[in-house]
Amino acid sequence: MNGPPWGRGLFLELDGRGPRHAQLTRALKEAIRNGRLPAHTRLPPTRELALSLGLSRSTALAAYEQLQAEGFLESRQGSGSFVAPQQMAPVPSKVPPAREVAPPSRYVTRLREGIDRAVGRRHYGLRYNLQYAEPLVQPGLAERWSKEIAHAAAYTDTDYPRTQGLPALREGICDYLARRRGVVASPDDVIIVNGAQQAYSLSARVLLDEGDRVALEDPHYFSSYQIMRVHGAEIVGVRTDEDGMVCDELPAEPARLVCVTPSHQFPGASLMSLPRRLQLIAYAEKHGSWIVEDDYDGELRFDGHPLAALRALDAASRVIYVGTFSKVLFPSLRLGYMVVPPALRDDFLAAKWLSDMASPAIEQAALAALIADGSFERFLRTGIKDLKLRRDTLLDGLRTHVGDRLELYDPPAGMHIVGWFRGLDEAQATRLVDHAASRGLGLHPMAPFYLDPPSRPGLLIGYAGMSCAEIREATRLFGSCLRELGL
Ligand SMILES: Cc1ncc(COP(=O)(O)O)c(C=O)c1O
Repeated sequence: MNGPPWGRGLFLELDGRGPRHAQLTRALKEAIRNGRLPAHTRLPPTRELALSLGLSRSTALAAYEQLQAEGFLESRQGSGSFVAPQQMAPVPSKVPPAREVAPPSRYVTRLREGIDRAVGRRHYGLRYNLQYAEPLVQPGLAERWSKEIAHAAAYTDTDYPRTQGLPALREGICDYLARRRGVVASPDDVIIVNGAQQAYSLSARVLLDEGDRVALEDPHYFSSYQIMRVHGAEIVGVRTDEDGMVCDELPAEPARLVCVTPSHQFPGASLMSLPRRLQLIAYAEKHGSWIVEDDYDGELRFDGHPLAALRALDAASRVIYVGTFSKVLFPSLRLGYMVVPPALRDDFLAAKWLSDMASPAIEQAALAALIADGSFERFLRTGIKDLKLRRDTLLDGLRTHVGDRLELYDPPAGMHIVGWFRGLDEAQATRLVDHAASRGLGLHPMAPFYLDPPSRPGLLIGYAGMSCAEIREATRLFGSCLRELGL
């Protein structure tokens, strides 16, 4: 009655949603329900499974316990955990469509066209993942946050919240922006949104008709590209260099909207120079264009005071400023903000109301408290110190183990650096990325972020989500992968 052992080739993909033990529970359940793990299969010991997926043993243990409680697994004294006989027939993983459906909307057609772009896909289950946009692990933040949330849950009005956002949060943001980003705004100019992602979506809805021209930095932030494209915009990529967007190359036929990341170009990592900033504002004034300034990690500079935001130079009110709490706090919070020119405020508010009425009030109240007593900026300061340490460890490790093979572009800001391969062609770089993944190391190419492909292969290297020890190991493994392929 021991049943077949765990198939070594079984591939479990975690979906990245929620706590890891819940992700693992879902992945195992899916494998059981679709028959990849048939009844009576013996699962590996938790220690072995955890090791193979780069998880902690307690994560695997929690998943097994959950599956046992739900009747998916049986534990047999002394011989391990087994898949329980199921009450239901296995569900095939891909259900064929029952009948032809009506043609999709233009929106859905464009959505589907974007799906095969590799950009934005996340990789899970790798031991060391040099992935951009992993949250920064801040000691003490989870504990502090849970206290604020508990307090806010007890005291926040349970009626529908204001569409614009809680006044206390908007006030806190204005004070913070004035001191740290040089942006002078009143709480009436601020709208609380569900992350920068919603700010881009609302901007597309409020400012664009189908076919309107949108100028994007190239390389660009994948969400801004997808949102504008799916909205039906005509996208024009504008080259970037070490001074940010090359504004001489903005389209002569005016763009209705220009999307930029001036304080830390994403993903190229440059800082937009003052002459370029002035040039961009002059372009917007001349052509009546709007500028979306995405200041996603503008506050994360390691070398003194950050440069003021573009919005601080904007006398003619052409800039829609976007900030997020995803970087300094964590992305699952889904809170960000926009500072909107007075002429657009009512339209943005109406679009936000139609979209979701308002952002969740309890989280807003907890965040307002964190900002008001100075904790947010304390987390910001320690976060910057931590990030700098990790970045220095990464640079050191890459120089030691990867050496001349990568030319590094490492501005003192943010959560990622860029490395351009020396002497490797595209095919060799792809081989390296695949080989590294098979060895448990996530490397992420730059090419998918470009409309106009770069002249040589490069990597976007994120370091926020790993400890210094892990970063050291990751760079060592990177070096081994190069040697194993003879590159
Ligand atoms: C350029 C850029 N903007 C904004 C964000 C944050 O988006 P959100 O606030 O929707 O989490 C990111 C996150 O990866 C980013 O890279």
